[in-house]
Amino acid sequence: GQVRIRTNTSIGVCLEGAQCGTIQFIKEDSENPLEDAKEFDSSLTENDIAVVDYYHQSLNSTSFFFPGYVDTHIHASQYPNAGIFGSSTLLDWLETYTFPLEASLNDLEVAGVVYQKVVQRTLRNGTTTATYFTTIDAEATKLMGRICSAAGQRALVGKVCMDSCSPDYYVESTQESLESTEDVVNYLQEELADPKVLPILTPRFAPSCSRDLMKGLATEARSKGQLHIQTHLSENVNEIEWVSSLFPECESYADVYDSCGLLTKKTVLAHCVHLTPEEARLVQRRGAGVSHCPISNSSITSGECRVRWLLDQGIDVGLGTDVSGGHACSMLATARQALLVSRHLAMKEPDVERKEHVKLSVEEALYLATMGGARALDMESSFGSFEVGKQFDTQLIDVESEGSNVDVFPWQRSAFVSSAKQSVSKTLPPPSITVQDVLAKWFFNGDDRNVMKVWVGGKLAHSL
Ligand code: GUN
Ligand code: FE
Repeated sequence: GQVRIRTNTSIGVCLEGAQCGTIQFIKEDSENPLEDAKEFDSSLTENDIAVVDYYHQSLNSTSFFFPGYVDTHIHASQYPNAGIFGSSTLLDWLETYTFPLEASLNDLEVAGVVYQKVVQRTLRNGTTTATYFTTIDAEATKLMGRICSAAGQRALVGKVCMDSCSPDYYVESTQESLESTEDVVNYLQEELADPKVLPILTPRFAPSCSRDLMKGLATEARSKGQLHIQTHLSENVNEIEWVSSLFPECESYADVYDSCGLLTKKTVLAHCVHLTPEEARLVQRRGAGVSHCPISNSSITSGECRVRWLLDQGIDVGLGTDVSGGHACSMLATARQALLVSRHLAMKEPDVERKEHVKLSVEEALYLATMGGARALDMESSFGSFEVGKQFDTQLIDVESEGSNVDVFPWQRSAFVSSAKQSVSKTLPPPSITVQDVLAKWFFNGDDRNVMKVWVGGKLAHSL
């Protein structure tokens, strides 16, 4: 609920060896970053240290480092359809728009073009970690792993598994699905072997997976020291009814996954719009994370996820763009929509006491887009905020960059840079604002034009 702002601060990042990319020190009230580094490790000489001074460069502007976004749910393969969904809802949207596009990515040339584009687009929007669905195709999924690695984006890459209730042109047998999943996992872990690019097992959703397939995937995940798992849960009312008719022996949609061993600390569940209280308790007990996808939920009219209700129960919640159920690759746009959806829930909340409580603040939405996502993925010890020992996964934001959509007026700039002079002499001066207000202006009006640079694990991955 609060953003911690550090001024006059130096950050030391290790750029080689086993610690490569990790934050070594954070020194507030820094006078000289070079001295801070030498104080941290007296064996370092000036030749070992590269000082990059963003502070003096940005002294008169509203510029700051911000943790990179963690997109906990995005279908890389669906990016060509971003914005194309008409008035469809989930199940007809899948049939009409989604399956035909995904099937076309069996062609590696098509897949390469799409995957390159989506990785560049998310990076320039400040996403340092993305949790991707690809398609059922193993070779195209490996290609996606190579593209993420070459671009320097941290990624979890999942080959989609579907052996049931799927079109003839886009389906696999149970055996094929398990074997090609294992093939992709082995490729990413042993051949690509980039610590930033991890496999994630991806049963699409219960209707497109047999019980044997889901159990097989859970076994595969456990046998490799608990791999990450991702799927969709309780997105749309018709989907939920369909699941209960397909799995009548299960108590709930969440119980379908749980009975197959798929609910773990390393599991990310997209949507969770219509969870029952029992299902929420189950998700909480298993320690699985929720990926809230508010743009998607509004676009294909799935519903409004009760984020406050989930958070109040101790469930880890992150945000997902869910391209192309969601039309935007931007996590900032997704965070804005999360805030607005919470206001819609507040308007409908009959309990006056709770009305305020269900609203998400700017600070909370930004938390969900960064640390919330890291926690949902059970990776908060590696990234999501600026802490010693974490990876330096960072954006350099300039609220007033060239072409910026955010207008900061001269008297407002003084909120950000305390040394700036107030030059207004009217009897009724324009209202002064706080740093939090500048952040809010960026939150509501900013976009990729404010993302000047992006580093992942200390390596520059995007520069405007
Ligand atoms: N449920 C099953 N597949 C999908 C998908 O591709 N996107 C969304 N939003 N929901 C799904
Ligand atoms: Fe999705």
